[in-house]
Amino acid sequence: MKGGNYNRFRGRHLSVTLITLIFTTIILWVSEKNPSITTLLTGQDQFTWPSSVCNYAKGQWVADSRRPLYSGFGCKQWLSEMWACRLTQRLDFSYEGYRWLPNNCEMPEFERSAFLRRMQDKTIAFIGDSLGRQQFQSLMCMATGGEMSPEVEDVGKEYGLVKARGAKRPDGWAFRFPNTNTTILYYWSSTLADLVPINSTDPRSNVAMHLDRPPAFMRKYLHRFDVLVLNTGHHWNRGKLTANRWVMYVNGKPNDDSKLVSMGGAKNFTAYSISKWLDSQLPYLPRLKAFFRTISPRHFRNGDWNTGGSCDNTTPLTEGREVLQDQSSDEVVEGAVKGTRIKLLDITAISDLRDEGHISHYSVRATGGINDCLHWCLPGIPDTWNELLAAQI
Ligand SMILES: *[C@@H]1O[C@H](CO)[C@@H](O)[C@H](O)[C@H]1NC(C)=O
Ligand SMILES: *[C@@H]1O[C@H](CO)[C@@H](O)[C@H](O)[C@H]1NC(C)=O
Ligand SMILES: *[C@@H]1O[C@H](CO)[C@@H](O)[C@H](O)[C@H]1NC(C)=O
Repeated sequence: MKGGNYNRFRGRHLSVTLITLIFTTIILWVSEKNPSITTLLTGQDQFTWPSSVCNYAKGQWVADSRRPLYSGFGCKQWLSEMWACRLTQRLDFSYEGYRWLPNNCEMPEFERSAFLRRMQDKTIAFIGDSLGRQQFQSLMCMATGGEMSPEVEDVGKEYGLVKARGAKRPDGWAFRFPNTNTTILYYWSSTLADLVPINSTDPRSNVAMHLDRPPAFMRKYLHRFDVLVLNTGHHWNRGKLTANRWVMYVNGKPNDDSKLVSMGGAKNFTAYSISKWLDSQLPYLPRLKAFFRTISPRHFRNGDWNTGGSCDNTTPLTEGREVLQDQSSDEVVEGAVKGTRIKLLDITAISDLRDEGHISHYSVRATGGINDCLHWCLPGIPDTWNELLAAQI
């Protein structure tokens, strides 16, 4: 009696198991052939990174007559004048004629209409410092081909990106391509820390810079992003913090951790904090592909911004054309995303070979002696960062 019950139960159990097994096998088999069927079956637009693990940062620069991807004269709608080297006194533009060729990864030619179709109904967000803004402007030029595009809509208001009273500019910009409903936006957060005035009614009060809390903008809008690119790096110096009256906070209190008093320690702590937080959100946001871009290298020689440092080379690739190393040159960002679902957008060593691509001393504001060996001419090196991004989304 007992045995019979048991056997009957086991029989039913076995057939359920068998059916489940067969069904699972079919799903697995079908989804391998056609991933979109998985989407239908699971009801989720879940993404997985390409299974082939290749390092886009290893490869070489090659001359390419099809570069640049847009005209530096044409892309007036999106390029800041100070970064459009074609509009300055610079006469040598050989830096525009190269493309990055990874050794072991597929990197399809960037084609703007195909890119926008792929980004149908999607939002691409850049959050970071002025180098992030360069990457944003570059992508706007790449996506429009550098042509006047009156149809592209300013949707900054949707994201609260409006110029505050008395401010020089808004904290960011957002534009939408109506044909594909693709939104590209940028938010200025130079340290990726949350900034909160200590006394909000006093415009001259200090500002708490919460190292362990992502910017409010990012917390608020993260669920609306399909692609996110973070960056930070060059604002981690005492002078900038003091000038902005930013005071480091950890755990909601002024920082008293001696390890975090050094700029390097605080930057590292913030990069790890934001990566950990973002990684904790990603399981709930299966559409979102998140990247942390590594630091953009500077090329000041014989000094700095303030001490007459310069970068006068105009000949491409005088330091070589290849990157062979496996590790990133930015160990902070590489370490921060290690073991998370955030992808490294490693551009440091690649860009380090391109010292001739900076604004140098050709600024439009040509006030004697100012050299910009930090920002890049556009079109230029940040276009390559976006090609690397486009290949990985
Ligand atoms: C545009 O895309 C968003 C998702 O990013 C979607 O919510 C919205 O409905 C789309 N609008 C149109 C008109 O299809
Ligand atoms: C904040 O600033 C206002 C204006 O300067 C001042 O009246 C007020 O006392 C300040 N509040 C605190 C808590 O310090
Ligand atoms: C950055 O912080 C992490 C986590 O606390 C630590 O393991 C790592 O050694 C730090 N790296 C640097 C370069 O300070």
